[in-house]
Amino acid sequence: MIKSVNTQFCEHANEYNSYNIIQQIVSKALVRELEFEPKRILELGCGSGQVFKNISFPFEYYKAIDFSQSMCDNHPKKENLEVVCLDFDSEAFEKNIQNEQYDIVLSSSALQWSKNLTKIIHTLSQISSKISFVLFTASTFQTLFEITGKKSPILDSQTIQKACSSFYDCQFEVLNYKLEFDEKKKMFDYIKNSGVGGGNSTLSFKEAKKLYQQYPHNYLEFEVIFIKGERFC
Ligand SMILES: C[S@@+](CC[C@H](N)C(=O)[O-])C[C@H]1O[C@@H](n2cnc3c(N)ncnc32)[C@H](O)[C@@H]1O
Repeated sequence: MIKSVNTQFCEHANEYNSYNIIQQIVSKALVRELEFEPKRILELGCGSGQVFKNISFPFEYYKAIDFSQSMCDNHPKKENLEVVCLDFDSEAFEKNIQNEQYDIVLSSSALQWSKNLTKIIHTLSQISSKISFVLFTASTFQTLFEITGKKSPILDSQTIQKACSSFYDCQFEVLNYKLEFDEKKKMFDYIKNSGVGGGNSTLSFKEAKKLYQQYPHNYLEFEVIFIKGERFC
């Protein structure tokens, strides 16, 4: 098991007209880092196709799963690609894939929401010898959670590493991104819209105001973990 921790560059959010710039960066990196061209691919939490859009090599079959019907509707359509609206934490998902075999399972910016990651990884170990994931960790928006005293709703790096290492020989790489903003309001809009667990819907007006006043940086913190796993023999 190789583990490394890197601190990455700062991006200027204002240069991008997008609330998912970090997701775009990491999904591109996930595909770029593939060490071979898998023929049969399963993707979990495909969203509107950020990973798929980066796949430029031929494949035999690609199954993309997401529990949001509108995401599935917005996903690109192509021959040999099946987009299935399913919850990756559900029995229905297990049943759907149980008799299948894949060369690799991919997932970008999605599995941090799993209610039982160990169970999913166990299921995947029966259908694929390789996994390649990138997940946001609970250290995303760290300063924000320190100020509010709330717990991040997404999985922490240790839990993620433990779940993956139970069934696969894994390499982990933790990257930290800082996304700078020139206006505080834009930064707080970004938190709400980014979909990586920092929405302040659980904060009272008073708590939200305190956060707005006390947040000390002109940047947001993101932590992602890249995982490459090879099933134990
Ligand atoms: C932040 S988006 C990432 C989408 C895409 N993978 C990307 O890189 O842009 C997270 C996606 O995971 C999906 N998702 C979250 N929990 C899920 C679950 N339990 N089952 C299936 N999809 C899920 C969401 O609907 C959403 O499309």
